[in-house]
Amino acid sequence: MNSKNSNNNGSSIGNCFAEDGTDIKDTNKLVILNAHVVSPGSMDLLPVEDMPLLDKPNQAIVVEDGVIKAVLPSTEAPSGSQWKVHDVKGALVIPALTECHTHAIFSGERAAEFHARIEGETYHDQQKKGGINATVSATRYATDESLLSNLKYWLGVFLRQGVTTVEVKSGYGLSHEQEIRLLSIINEVKQQQQQAFVEVAPTYLGAHAVPKEAKSREDYIEEMVMKTMPVVRNEGLADFVDVFVASVAYTVEEADFIYNAAHGLGFSLKAHLWELEHDNSRKLLEKYPFVSVDHLEFAQREDLEVVFDQGTVPVLLPLTAWHLGYDIRRTYDLIKDLKGYFAISTDFNPGTSFSPSLWQAITVAHIEFGLPIFELFFASTVYGAKALGLNDRGAVLPGNKADLAVLTVPSLDWLGYLHGINPVDMVFKNGSPVQ
Ligand code: NIG
Ligand code: FE
Repeated sequence: MNSKNSNNNGSSIGNCFAEDGTDIKDTNKLVILNAHVVSPGSMDLLPVEDMPLLDKPNQAIVVEDGVIKAVLPSTEAPSGSQWKVHDVKGALVIPALTECHTHAIFSGERAAEFHARIEGETYHDQQKKGGINATVSATRYATDESLLSNLKYWLGVFLRQGVTTVEVKSGYGLSHEQEIRLLSIINEVKQQQQQAFVEVAPTYLGAHAVPKEAKSREDYIEEMVMKTMPVVRNEGLADFVDVFVASVAYTVEEADFIYNAAHGLGFSLKAHLWELEHDNSRKLLEKYPFVSVDHLEFAQREDLEVVFDQGTVPVLLPLTAWHLGYDIRRTYDLIKDLKGYFAISTDFNPGTSFSPSLWQAITVAHIEFGLPIFELFFASTVYGAKALGLNDRGAVLPGNKADLAVLTVPSLDWLGYLHGINPVDMVFKNGSPVQ
Protein backbone atom coordinates (compact mmCIF):
# COMPACT_ATOMS: atom_id res chain seq x y z
CA MET A 1 0.00 0.00 0.00
CA ASN A 2 1.06 3.53 -0.60
CA SER A 3 0.75 4.52 3.02
CA LYS A 4 2.04 8.00 2.33
CA ASN A 5 -0.94 8.56 0.11
CA SER A 6 -3.61 6.74 2.07
CA ASN A 7 -2.74 8.65 5.22
CA ASN A 8 -2.69 11.93 3.42
CA ASN A 9 -5.49 14.14 4.69
CA GLY A 10 -5.69 15.93 1.39
CA SER A 11 -6.56 12.89 -0.67
CA SER A 12 -9.34 10.91 0.90
CA ILE A 13 -12.99 11.24 -0.04
CA GLY A 14 -14.61 13.88 2.11
CA ASN A 15 -11.44 15.88 2.68
CA CYS A 16 -11.12 18.24 -0.23
CA PHE A 17 -8.59 20.75 0.89
CA ALA A 18 -5.47 21.92 -0.84
CA GLU A 19 -2.10 21.95 0.86
CA ASP A 20 -2.63 25.46 2.20
CA GLY A 21 -5.97 24.45 3.71
CA THR A 22 -8.19 26.16 1.13
CA ASP A 23 -11.24 24.35 -0.17
CA ILE A 24 -10.69 23.04 -3.71
CA LYS A 25 -14.29 22.03 -4.38
CA ASP A 26 -15.48 25.05 -6.31
CA THR A 27 -12.38 25.99 -8.18
CA ASN A 28 -12.29 26.07 -11.98
CA LYS A 29 -8.49 26.04 -12.07
CA LEU A 30 -6.87 23.08 -10.42
CA VAL A 31 -3.48 21.43 -10.52
CA ILE A 32 -3.22 17.85 -9.33
CA LEU A 33 0.42 17.74 -8.37
CA ASN A 34 2.91 14.86 -8.11
CA ALA A 35 0.62 12.40 -9.82
CA HIS A 36 1.88 9.10 -11.15
CA VAL A 37 -0.33 9.14 -14.23
CA VAL A 38 -1.25 5.76 -15.69
CA SER A 39 -3.66 5.88 -18.59
CA PRO A 40 -4.55 4.62 -22.03
CA GLY A 41 -2.39 6.74 -24.34
CA SER A 42 -4.91 7.23 -27.14
CA MET A 43 -8.60 7.93 -27.65
CA ASP A 44 -8.66 5.96 -30.90
CA LEU A 45 -10.48 2.66 -31.16
CA LEU A 46 -7.16 0.84 -31.59
CA PRO A 47 -6.61 -2.91 -31.38
CA VAL A 48 -6.09 -3.53 -27.67
CA GLU A 49 -2.53 -4.75 -28.30
CA ASP A 50 -1.69 -1.43 -29.98
CA MET A 51 -3.18 0.77 -27.26
CA PRO A 52 -0.22 2.70 -25.82
CA LEU A 53 0.12 2.83 -22.04
CA LEU A 54 0.96 6.18 -20.59
CA ASP A 55 3.01 5.67 -17.43
CA LYS A 56 4.49 8.92 -16.16
CA PRO A 57 5.51 9.67 -12.57
CA ASN A 58 5.78 13.20 -11.11
CA GLN A 59 3.14 14.75 -13.33
CA ALA A 60 0.95 17.78 -12.88
CA ILE A 61 -2.56 17.39 -14.28
CA VAL A 62 -3.75 20.87 -15.18
CA VAL A 63 -7.54 21.22 -15.09
CA GLU A 64 -9.62 24.18 -16.21
CA ASP A 65 -13.41 24.26 -16.17
CA GLY A 66 -13.59 20.52 -15.61
CA VAL A 67 -11.39 19.65 -18.57
CA ILE A 68 -7.78 18.38 -18.64
CA LYS A 69 -5.72 21.15 -20.23
CA ALA A 70 -2.28 19.61 -19.89
CA VAL A 71 -0.32 16.78 -18.33
CA LEU A 72 3.24 17.94 -17.71
CA PRO A 73 6.12 17.45 -15.27
CA SER A 74 5.23 18.73 -11.77
CA THR A 75 8.21 21.08 -11.97
CA GLU A 76 6.44 22.87 -14.86
CA ALA A 77 3.06 23.20 -13.13
CA PRO A 78 1.42 26.61 -13.38
CA SER A 79 1.43 28.62 -10.19
CA GLY A 80 -0.21 31.74 -8.87
CA SER A 81 -3.11 32.50 -6.61
CA GLN A 82 -5.74 31.60 -9.22
CA TRP A 83 -4.57 27.97 -9.16
CA LYS A 84 -5.66 25.59 -6.45
CA VAL A 85 -3.17 22.81 -5.91
CA HIS A 86 -3.92 19.31 -4.76
CA ASP A 87 -0.79 17.28 -4.06
CA VAL A 88 -1.34 13.50 -4.37
CA LYS A 89 2.25 12.83 -3.27
CA GLY A 90 3.18 10.22 -5.84
CA ALA A 91 -0.10 8.29 -5.88
CA LEU A 92 -1.31 6.60 -9.06
CA VAL A 93 -3.88 8.69 -10.92
CA ILE A 94 -5.93 6.92 -13.57
CA PRO A 95 -8.95 7.91 -15.66
CA ALA A 96 -12.22 7.26 -13.83
CA LEU A 97 -13.89 4.03 -14.96
CA THR A 98 -17.04 3.65 -17.07
CA GLU A 99 -19.75 1.05 -16.37
CA CYS A 100 -21.19 0.54 -19.83
CA HIS A 101 -23.75 -2.22 -19.04
CA THR A 102 -25.93 -2.31 -15.91
CA HIS A 103 -29.50 -3.20 -14.99
CA ALA A 104 -29.26 -1.07 -11.85
CA ILE A 105 -32.92 -0.07 -11.50
CA PHE A 106 -34.94 -2.85 -9.87
CA SER A 107 -36.53 -3.90 -6.63
CA GLY A 108 -36.49 -7.18 -4.72
CA GLU A 109 -33.92 -9.93 -4.82
CA ARG A 110 -33.48 -13.44 -6.19
CA ALA A 111 -31.11 -14.98 -3.67
CA ALA A 112 -32.99 -18.28 -3.56
CA GLU A 113 -32.72 -18.65 -7.35
CA PHE A 114 -29.06 -17.77 -7.18
CA HIS A 115 -28.26 -20.49 -4.64
CA ALA A 116 -30.46 -23.00 -6.49
CA ARG A 117 -28.38 -22.31 -9.60
CA ILE A 118 -25.21 -22.94 -7.65
CA GLU A 119 -26.76 -26.31 -6.77
CA GLY A 120 -27.56 -27.14 -10.38
CA GLU A 121 -30.79 -25.48 -11.54
CA THR A 122 -30.39 -23.75 -14.88
CA TYR A 123 -31.00 -20.09 -15.70
CA HIS A 124 -33.13 -21.23 -18.65
CA ASP A 125 -35.47 -23.28 -16.45
CA GLN A 126 -35.74 -20.55 -13.86
CA GLN A 127 -36.93 -18.06 -16.49
CA LYS A 128 -40.10 -20.17 -16.83
CA LYS A 129 -41.14 -19.83 -13.17
CA GLY A 130 -39.32 -16.73 -11.87
CA GLY A 131 -36.26 -15.16 -13.37
CA ILE A 132 -36.55 -11.71 -14.92
CA ASN A 133 -40.33 -11.72 -14.46
CA ALA A 134 -39.90 -12.23 -10.67
CA THR A 135 -37.89 -9.00 -10.54
CA VAL A 136 -40.51 -7.36 -12.79
CA SER A 137 -43.23 -8.16 -10.19
CA ALA A 138 -41.17 -6.75 -7.33
CA THR A 139 -40.21 -3.67 -9.34
CA ARG A 140 -43.77 -2.88 -10.39
CA TYR A 141 -44.83 -3.11 -6.76
CA ALA A 142 -42.10 -0.73 -5.54
CA THR A 143 -42.77 2.98 -5.06
CA ASP A 144 -41.05 5.61 -7.19
CA GLU A 145 -39.30 6.85 -4.05
CA SER A 146 -37.80 3.48 -3.20
CA LEU A 147 -36.66 2.85 -6.79
CA LEU A 148 -35.08 6.31 -6.85
CA SER A 149 -33.31 5.90 -3.55
CA ASN A 150 -32.11 2.36 -4.39
CA LEU A 151 -30.70 3.53 -7.72
CA LYS A 152 -28.93 6.44 -6.06
CA TYR A 153 -27.52 4.06 -3.49
CA TRP A 154 -26.05 1.77 -6.17
CA LEU A 155 -24.67 4.72 -8.15
CA GLY A 156 -22.95 5.88 -4.96
CA VAL A 157 -21.39 2.43 -4.62
CA PHE A 158 -20.07 2.68 -8.18
CA LEU A 159 -18.80 6.20 -7.63
CA ARG A 160 -16.80 5.39 -4.51
CA GLN A 161 -15.01 2.78 -6.60
CA GLY A 162 -13.93 5.35 -9.16
CA VAL A 163 -16.76 4.94 -11.68
CA THR A 164 -18.09 8.31 -12.88
CA THR A 165 -20.19 7.20 -15.88
CA VAL A 166 -22.84 4.48 -15.59
CA GLU A 167 -25.21 3.14 -18.20
CA VAL A 168 -28.55 2.06 -16.68
CA LYS A 169 -31.05 -0.09 -18.56
CA SER A 170 -34.77 -0.22 -17.93
CA GLY A 171 -36.25 -3.68 -18.49
CA TYR A 172 -37.88 -4.69 -15.21
CA GLY A 173 -41.11 -2.82 -15.99
CA LEU A 174 -42.20 -4.58 -19.20
CA SER A 175 -45.31 -2.52 -19.87
CA HIS A 176 -45.67 0.90 -21.43
CA GLU A 177 -46.44 2.64 -18.13
CA GLN A 178 -43.86 0.77 -16.10
CA GLU A 179 -41.01 1.16 -18.59
CA ILE A 180 -41.73 4.90 -18.90
CA ARG A 181 -41.79 5.07 -15.11
CA LEU A 182 -38.38 3.39 -14.80
CA LEU A 183 -36.85 5.58 -17.49
CA SER A 184 -38.32 8.69 -15.86
CA ILE A 185 -36.75 7.70 -12.53
CA ILE A 186 -33.41 7.02 -14.24
CA ASN A 187 -33.67 10.49 -15.80
CA GLU A 188 -34.55 12.08 -12.47
CA VAL A 189 -31.45 10.52 -10.97
CA LYS A 190 -29.53 11.62 -14.04
CA GLN A 191 -30.44 15.26 -13.33
CA GLN A 192 -29.57 14.96 -9.65
CA GLN A 193 -26.39 13.02 -10.24
CA GLN A 194 -25.10 15.60 -12.64
CA GLN A 195 -24.47 17.66 -9.54
CA ALA A 196 -23.50 14.63 -7.49
CA PHE A 197 -20.82 13.37 -9.81
CA VAL A 198 -22.10 10.28 -11.62
CA GLU A 199 -23.20 10.66 -15.20
CA VAL A 200 -26.00 8.32 -16.16
CA ALA A 201 -26.64 6.99 -19.68
CA PRO A 202 -30.20 5.57 -19.89
CA THR A 203 -31.10 2.63 -22.14
CA TYR A 204 -34.58 1.40 -23.03
CA LEU A 205 -34.64 -2.40 -22.64
CA GLY A 206 -38.37 -3.05 -22.92
CA ALA A 207 -37.36 -6.20 -24.81
CA HIS A 208 -35.75 -7.85 -21.78
CA ALA A 209 -38.39 -10.58 -21.40
CA VAL A 210 -41.96 -11.09 -22.51
CA PRO A 211 -44.27 -9.96 -19.68
CA LYS A 212 -46.35 -12.72 -18.11
CA GLU A 213 -49.67 -10.96 -18.70
CA ALA A 214 -49.05 -10.21 -22.42
CA LYS A 215 -51.90 -11.49 -24.62
CA SER A 216 -49.25 -12.54 -27.09
CA ARG A 217 -45.62 -11.79 -27.86
CA GLU A 218 -46.72 -9.83 -30.91
CA ASP A 219 -48.98 -7.66 -28.77
CA TYR A 220 -46.21 -6.61 -26.44
CA ILE A 221 -43.75 -6.06 -29.30
CA GLU A 222 -46.31 -3.85 -31.01
CA GLU A 223 -46.77 -1.88 -27.79
CA MET A 224 -43.01 -1.32 -27.51
CA VAL A 225 -42.61 -0.26 -31.12
CA MET A 226 -45.78 1.73 -31.69
CA LYS A 227 -46.40 3.21 -28.27
CA THR A 228 -43.42 3.20 -25.92
CA MET A 229 -40.44 3.87 -28.18
CA PRO A 230 -41.91 7.03 -29.77
CA VAL A 231 -42.60 8.46 -26.30
CA VAL A 232 -39.13 7.49 -25.07
CA ARG A 233 -37.67 9.20 -28.11
CA ASN A 234 -39.81 12.33 -28.03
CA GLU A 235 -39.23 12.87 -24.34
CA GLY A 236 -35.52 12.10 -24.60
CA LEU A 237 -35.77 9.39 -21.94
CA ALA A 238 -33.10 7.07 -23.34
CA ASP A 239 -29.96 7.28 -25.46
CA PHE A 240 -30.01 3.62 -26.49
CA VAL A 241 -32.40 0.80 -27.33
CA ASP A 242 -31.30 -2.69 -26.32
CA VAL A 243 -32.85 -6.14 -26.94
CA PHE A 244 -32.10 -9.40 -25.10
CA VAL A 245 -31.76 -11.74 -28.06
CA ALA A 246 -31.90 -15.29 -26.68
CA SER A 247 -34.05 -18.40 -26.62
CA VAL A 248 -35.47 -17.28 -23.24
CA ALA A 249 -36.23 -13.76 -24.48
CA TYR A 250 -36.54 -12.44 -28.08
CA THR A 251 -35.86 -14.13 -31.41
CA VAL A 252 -33.58 -12.63 -34.04
CA GLU A 253 -36.62 -11.86 -36.21
CA GLU A 254 -38.38 -10.09 -33.36
CA ALA A 255 -35.20 -8.16 -32.58
CA ASP A 256 -34.93 -7.17 -36.25
CA PHE A 257 -38.42 -5.68 -36.09
CA ILE A 258 -37.64 -3.78 -32.87
CA TYR A 259 -34.27 -2.48 -34.10
CA ASN A 260 -35.77 -1.42 -37.39
CA ALA A 261 -38.19 0.85 -35.51
CA ALA A 262 -35.54 2.04 -33.04
CA HIS A 263 -33.09 2.87 -35.80
CA GLY A 264 -35.83 4.69 -37.70
CA LEU A 265 -36.58 6.79 -34.63
CA GLY A 266 -32.89 7.72 -34.37
CA PHE A 267 -31.87 5.74 -31.29
CA SER A 268 -28.35 4.41 -30.87
CA LEU A 269 -28.37 0.63 -30.63
CA LYS A 270 -27.04 -1.92 -28.16
CA ALA A 271 -27.70 -5.65 -27.95
CA HIS A 272 -27.49 -8.60 -25.57
CA LEU A 273 -26.12 -11.19 -27.98
CA TRP A 274 -24.98 -14.79 -27.79
CA GLU A 275 -25.20 -14.94 -24.00
CA LEU A 276 -26.83 -18.35 -23.65
CA GLU A 277 -26.42 -19.90 -27.10
CA HIS A 278 -25.41 -19.09 -30.66
CA ASP A 279 -27.93 -17.85 -33.24
CA ASN A 280 -27.93 -15.90 -36.51
CA SER A 281 -27.90 -12.43 -34.90
CA ARG A 282 -25.01 -11.61 -37.20
CA LYS A 283 -27.57 -10.47 -39.73
CA LEU A 284 -28.66 -7.76 -37.27
CA LEU A 285 -25.10 -6.48 -37.19
CA GLU A 286 -24.96 -6.46 -40.96
CA LYS A 287 -28.17 -4.44 -41.10
CA TYR A 288 -27.90 -1.86 -38.29
CA PRO A 289 -25.08 0.15 -36.73
CA PHE A 290 -24.55 -0.97 -33.12
CA VAL A 291 -22.55 1.08 -30.63
CA SER A 292 -21.90 -2.08 -28.63
CA VAL A 293 -22.82 -5.75 -28.56
CA ASP A 294 -22.63 -7.33 -25.14
CA HIS A 295 -22.05 -10.79 -23.55
CA LEU A 296 -20.86 -12.79 -26.63
CA GLU A 297 -20.00 -15.98 -24.76
CA PHE A 298 -21.20 -18.01 -27.78
CA ALA A 299 -20.02 -15.63 -30.51
CA GLN A 300 -18.26 -17.16 -33.51
CA ARG A 301 -15.28 -15.80 -35.40
CA GLU A 302 -17.46 -14.64 -38.34
CA ASP A 303 -19.69 -12.71 -35.94
CA LEU A 304 -16.74 -10.86 -34.45
CA GLU A 305 -15.38 -10.09 -37.91
CA VAL A 306 -18.57 -8.15 -38.58
CA VAL A 307 -18.40 -6.48 -35.14
CA PHE A 308 -14.95 -5.06 -35.93
CA ASP A 309 -15.81 -4.22 -39.54
CA GLN A 310 -18.60 -2.03 -38.21
CA GLY A 311 -16.50 -0.34 -35.51
CA THR A 312 -18.82 -1.77 -32.84
CA VAL A 313 -17.46 -2.34 -29.32
CA PRO A 314 -17.80 -5.89 -27.96
CA VAL A 315 -18.51 -5.83 -24.23
CA LEU A 316 -17.47 -8.80 -22.09
CA LEU A 317 -19.28 -9.38 -18.79
CA PRO A 318 -16.99 -11.61 -16.73
CA LEU A 319 -19.13 -11.76 -13.58
CA THR A 320 -22.17 -13.10 -15.45
CA ALA A 321 -20.07 -15.62 -17.36
CA TRP A 322 -18.36 -16.71 -14.14
CA HIS A 323 -21.62 -17.26 -12.33
CA LEU A 324 -23.44 -18.99 -15.21
CA GLY A 325 -20.43 -21.20 -15.91
CA TYR A 326 -19.68 -19.78 -19.36
CA ASP A 327 -16.33 -18.92 -20.82
CA ILE A 328 -15.24 -15.48 -22.01
CA ARG A 329 -11.71 -16.69 -22.70
CA ARG A 330 -12.74 -18.25 -26.00
CA THR A 331 -14.37 -14.97 -27.08
CA TYR A 332 -11.36 -13.01 -25.89
CA ASP A 333 -9.01 -15.27 -27.92
CA LEU A 334 -11.08 -14.60 -31.04
CA ILE A 335 -10.98 -10.86 -30.35
CA LYS A 336 -7.19 -10.97 -30.05
CA ASP A 337 -6.84 -13.09 -33.13
CA LEU A 338 -8.85 -10.53 -35.09
CA LYS A 339 -6.73 -7.70 -33.65
CA GLY A 340 -9.78 -6.23 -31.96
CA TYR A 341 -10.62 -4.41 -28.77
CA PHE A 342 -13.20 -4.92 -26.03
CA ALA A 343 -14.86 -3.27 -23.06
CA ILE A 344 -15.90 -4.90 -19.80
CA SER A 345 -18.68 -4.15 -17.35
CA THR A 346 -20.40 -5.73 -14.35
CA ASP A 347 -23.84 -6.35 -15.93
CA PHE A 348 -25.01 -5.45 -12.42
CA ASN A 349 -28.47 -7.01 -11.94
CA PRO A 350 -30.27 -9.10 -9.28
CA GLY A 351 -30.33 -12.25 -11.45
CA THR A 352 -26.97 -13.10 -12.93
CA SER A 353 -24.54 -10.55 -11.48
CA PHE A 354 -25.37 -9.06 -8.11
CA SER A 355 -22.05 -7.25 -7.82
CA PRO A 356 -21.67 -3.50 -8.37
CA SER A 357 -17.90 -3.75 -8.59
CA LEU A 358 -15.95 -3.29 -11.79
CA TRP A 359 -12.85 -4.11 -9.76
CA GLN A 360 -14.31 -7.50 -9.01
CA ALA A 361 -15.12 -7.93 -12.70
CA ILE A 362 -11.49 -7.13 -13.48
CA THR A 363 -10.27 -9.60 -10.86
CA VAL A 364 -12.51 -12.41 -12.13
CA ALA A 365 -11.61 -11.72 -15.77
CA HIS A 366 -7.96 -11.90 -14.77
CA ILE A 367 -7.89 -14.85 -12.36
CA GLU A 368 -10.70 -17.00 -13.75
CA PHE A 369 -10.33 -16.28 -17.47
CA GLY A 370 -6.70 -15.22 -17.76
CA LEU A 371 -7.25 -11.84 -19.45
CA PRO A 372 -4.18 -9.56 -19.08
CA ILE A 373 -4.53 -6.88 -16.43
CA PHE A 374 -3.46 -3.95 -18.60
CA GLU A 375 -5.98 -4.88 -21.26
CA LEU A 376 -8.67 -5.02 -18.58
CA PHE A 377 -7.62 -1.55 -17.51
CA PHE A 378 -8.14 -0.28 -21.07
CA ALA A 379 -11.42 -2.24 -21.28
CA SER A 380 -12.88 -0.50 -18.23
CA THR A 381 -11.68 3.00 -19.17
CA VAL A 382 -11.26 4.10 -22.77
CA TYR A 383 -13.11 1.21 -24.41
CA GLY A 384 -15.85 1.35 -21.76
CA ALA A 385 -16.48 4.97 -22.74
CA LYS A 386 -16.46 4.01 -26.44
CA ALA A 387 -19.12 1.36 -25.71
CA LEU A 388 -21.36 4.32 -24.82
CA GLY A 389 -20.24 6.33 -27.83
CA LEU A 390 -18.32 8.73 -25.57
CA ASN A 391 -15.07 10.23 -26.83
CA ASP A 392 -14.32 12.67 -24.06
CA ARG A 393 -13.28 10.42 -21.18
CA GLY A 394 -11.46 7.23 -20.31
CA ALA A 395 -7.90 8.55 -20.65
CA VAL A 396 -5.85 11.19 -18.82
CA LEU A 397 -5.26 13.23 -21.96
CA PRO A 398 -5.70 16.94 -22.71
CA GLY A 399 -9.19 17.74 -23.93
CA ASN A 400 -10.85 14.98 -21.92
CA LYS A 401 -13.08 15.51 -18.93
CA ALA A 402 -11.11 15.61 -15.70
CA ASP A 403 -12.78 12.42 -14.44
CA LEU A 404 -10.00 10.82 -12.43
CA ALA A 405 -9.40 8.27 -9.71
CA VAL A 406 -6.52 8.41 -7.24
CA LEU A 407 -5.52 4.90 -6.25
CA THR A 408 -4.12 3.48 -3.00
CA VAL A 409 -2.11 0.76 -4.76
CA PRO A 410 1.47 1.54 -5.82
CA SER A 411 1.22 0.15 -9.36
CA LEU A 412 -1.32 -1.25 -11.81
CA ASP A 413 0.35 -4.63 -11.35
CA TRP A 414 -1.49 -4.75 -8.06
CA LEU A 415 -4.89 -4.84 -9.75
CA GLY A 416 -6.32 -8.34 -9.61
CA TYR A 417 -3.42 -9.27 -7.33
CA LEU A 418 -4.56 -7.35 -4.27
CA HIS A 419 -8.25 -8.02 -4.65
CA GLY A 420 -11.44 -7.80 -2.61
CA ILE A 421 -10.79 -4.22 -1.56
CA ASN A 422 -11.59 -0.95 -3.23
CA PRO A 423 -8.28 0.42 -4.55
CA VAL A 424 -9.70 3.95 -4.96
CA ASP A 425 -8.67 6.65 -2.52
CA MET A 426 -10.28 9.66 -4.15
CA VAL A 427 -12.38 10.54 -7.18
CA PHE A 428 -12.54 13.70 -9.31
CA LYS A 429 -15.55 14.34 -11.58
CA ASN A 430 -15.18 17.21 -14.04
CA GLY A 431 -12.23 18.36 -11.96
CA SER A 432 -14.17 18.50 -8.69
CA PRO A 433 -13.34 16.22 -5.80
CA VAL A 434 -16.21 13.88 -5.00
CA GLN A 435 -17.65 14.22 -1.50
O1 NIG B 1 -27.55 -9.44 -18.71
N1 NIG B 1 -29.42 -10.96 -20.13
C1 NIG B 1 -30.32 -10.34 -19.65
N2 NIG B 1 -30.30 -9.63 -18.55
C2 NIG B 1 -29.43 -9.89 -17.47
C3 NIG B 1 -30.05 -10.82 -16.51
C4 NIG B 1 -31.21 -10.20 -15.91
C5 NIG B 1 -31.87 -11.04 -14.88
O2 NIG B 1 -31.69 -12.27 -14.82
O3 NIG B 1 -32.61 -10.42 -14.12
C6 NIG B 1 -28.08 -10.27 -17.99
O4 NIG B 1 -27.54 -11.33 -17.68
FE1 FE C 1 -27.26 -7.51 -19.22
